[in-house]
Amino acid sequence: MNEREFTVHRYDPKVDTEPRFESYDVPISASTSVLDGLFHIQETLGENLSMRFSCRQGVCGSCCMEINGKARLACQTPVTGLNDRKVTVRPLYNLPVIKDLVVDMDPFFESFEAIDPSFVAEGLDENSDPAVIPPDSREREVIEPRTDCVGCGACYSSCSVAGDTYLGPAAINKALTLLKDSREMKTDERFERLSETDGVQGCHVQGECSNTCPKDIPVSEGIQLLKRDAIKRGIKQRLFPSD
Ligand code: SF4
Ligand code: FES
Repeated sequence: MNEREFTVHRYDPKVDTEPRFESYDVPISASTSVLDGLFHIQETLGENLSMRFSCRQGVCGSCCMEINGKARLACQTPVTGLNDRKVTVRPLYNLPVIKDLVVDMDPFFESFEAIDPSFVAEGLDENSDPAVIPPDSREREVIEPRTDCVGCGACYSSCSVAGDTYLGPAAINKALTLLKDSREMKTDERFERLSETDGVQGCHVQGECSNTCPKDIPVSEGIQLLKRDAIKRGIKQRLFPSD
């Protein structure tokens, strides 16, 4: 069996004054994922290594971490698919580290709360279903690919302006799915929120969010779409303030 060297970020704030990296030899086969390699370090080598995971099928987003310089889902990353023979693993950027590979996701999810991620449709109560968006409509074409977000945080980690005062790519992507939905009612409030300085104008158009997203969501393109919408809306409000 082949072996690969895993170099892993270690940090336990209860005992460590600063983070360090430690290396481990991990046996691999063609199907070994990076998450499998980390299990080997935990279970066979007996290391008290902390990481998040759940589904192991690429649907929960919880195992996202920086692997060889890119944020990826560890359960969906085969070790043999990495260009480098060494595997270097560290926690996501732009989020506080709790221990080893585990980050505090609160700032990431708080940015979702800021744009109010709930769907509110006109005339909808517990006895009625919202009108269906036709499958071949432009509206669905824009919204559908963007609803595959698994909340992994890869885009947030790869963004050079997230983690400070910018809402971040995933929350804005979520806002777009609601703003482009003709049934949704909170359009004005959401546009107002997104037009604040930490909203769409905070994006520096580096495009790393789209390059990194494991679900191939065109995140950056969506943010630029909303920037244009926000500018058009601002011009319209100045020209026709009573509309
Ligand atoms: S937009 Fe993509 S990278 Fe960002 S949280 Fe959603 S799935 Fe992850
Ligand atoms: S464990 Fe759920 S996406 Fe990897």
